[in-house]
Amino acid sequence: MTDHSNSAKPWGGRFTESTDAFVEAFTASVGFDRRLYRYDIQGSRAHARMLAKVAVISDDECAAILDGLDRIEASIEQGDFEWSVSLEDVHMNIEARLTALIGEAGKKLHTGRSRNDQVATDMRLYLRDRIDDACRELRRLQQGLLELAEREADTLLPGFTHLQVAMPVTFGHHMLAWFENLQRDHQRLLDCRKRVNVMPLGAAALAGTSFPIDRHYTAELLDFEAPAENSLDAVSDRDFAIEFCAAAALILTHLSRFSEELILWASAQFDFIDLPDRFCTGSSIMPQKKNPDVPELVRGKTGRVAGHLLGLLMLMKGQPLAYNKDNQEDKEPLFDTVDTLLDCLRAFADMVPALQCKSDNMRRAAASGYSTATDLADYLVRKGMAFRDAHEVVGRAVRLGIDSGRDLSEMSLPELQDLAAIIEDDVFEVLTLEGSVAARDHFGGTAPAQVRAAIARARERMED
Ligand code: ARG
Repeated sequence: MTDHSNSAKPWGGRFTESTDAFVEAFTASVGFDRRLYRYDIQGSRAHARMLAKVAVISDDECAAILDGLDRIEASIEQGDFEWSVSLEDVHMNIEARLTALIGEAGKKLHTGRSRNDQVATDMRLYLRDRIDDACRELRRLQQGLLELAEREADTLLPGFTHLQVAMPVTFGHHMLAWFENLQRDHQRLLDCRKRVNVMPLGAAALAGTSFPIDRHYTAELLDFEAPAENSLDAVSDRDFAIEFCAAAALILTHLSRFSEELILWASAQFDFIDLPDRFCTGSSIMPQKKNPDVPELVRGKTGRVAGHLLGLLMLMKGQPLAYNKDNQEDKEPLFDTVDTLLDCLRAFADMVPALQCKSDNMRRAAASGYSTATDLADYLVRKGMAFRDAHEVVGRAVRLGIDSGRDLSEMSLPELQDLAAIIEDDVFEVLTLEGSVAARDHFGGTAPAQVRAAIARARERMED
């Protein structure tokens, strides 16, 4: 990056001494906001075309501006654009280069515009694209979950509450639970996108402009839903960034919980799944180790995105209307949230369809811990016993099992009849794992048939 004195700064006119070198670096944002260049140029193109339409600039001037912007974009993409810290930010870097390239017409681009509405517009254009990226990755992950759920629709594993074996469930059903989390996440992103997709341009510094601008035309060119209603709000609002970070923090919270399960399941103690080697790393000292790094990192990165959300809330809480330089601080947390979210979604979308279930181990775990005790209680209720009495009887059966080291299905009929005379031979059907899950055969239940129906519905719901 090169250095310029104040005479080169677009706002240098009213100043009598150069900016302190440290202050220049301290206030500059070009080091991180240059990533907005494409959106800054997109916004400038639309602004120039609007200015020409309302005859604030001539068609020739507009053509020269568009040509200059094309050349700048190409040079940035080729990596030979020279960014200057003394030109502070992406906006002034590009504008200064435009004037250097095309002369007088370049100086007219900023008519009826301020960096305040410009930066808010750039951020919204940028975020709109990143939301679309995140939605695509979410969908890819959801597809992967459905694939896995379909493959393992009949696979049995213990369902847990309090991390204690509760009832048998099907692996497909378990994966569909995560699908639902992500379905809500997708809806949340689309909802957030509606409020991102509003155009600040035309608000200028804060109060609008005295030029006869056509904000609806600019909004149309940029594919915004509408221009922002109020100029003060347009330049000062960062709700859209906060909402996105909240949605991202929640997505990552979901992935973090899912990660925790994968880490547990991949441990020697559970041994329910095999994570493909390509998503794991080894230990430099313990040759036997295969560590679930990807889920661990996703779990870890969730904390920093939740931190960005809090950071943005704190950034805004003390700001009077309208624009304040504080707002420059919205970028790094937002960019890091975007990068982290997209990376984590990508890792999960790649990894999930490759998970391998160790169904024998899952089954064994489901068969332990008296996971069909509730089925026995339900059986007694169907035979006429009140649920509370049935609960008591089954509790005694479990006690007997613990004392004699056996599961309920391993007890003899006379032993069970000793506890409740109404028990008959058919009890053993309800005590099997397959019988237990098959019995939960209603909308939203874990029966394999319901899982298959839910997968079919899920595929349709993703089309909406
Ligand atoms: N770099 C600034 C930002 O990110 C651009 C807007 C600056 N506006 C101003 N009046 N200084 O917010």
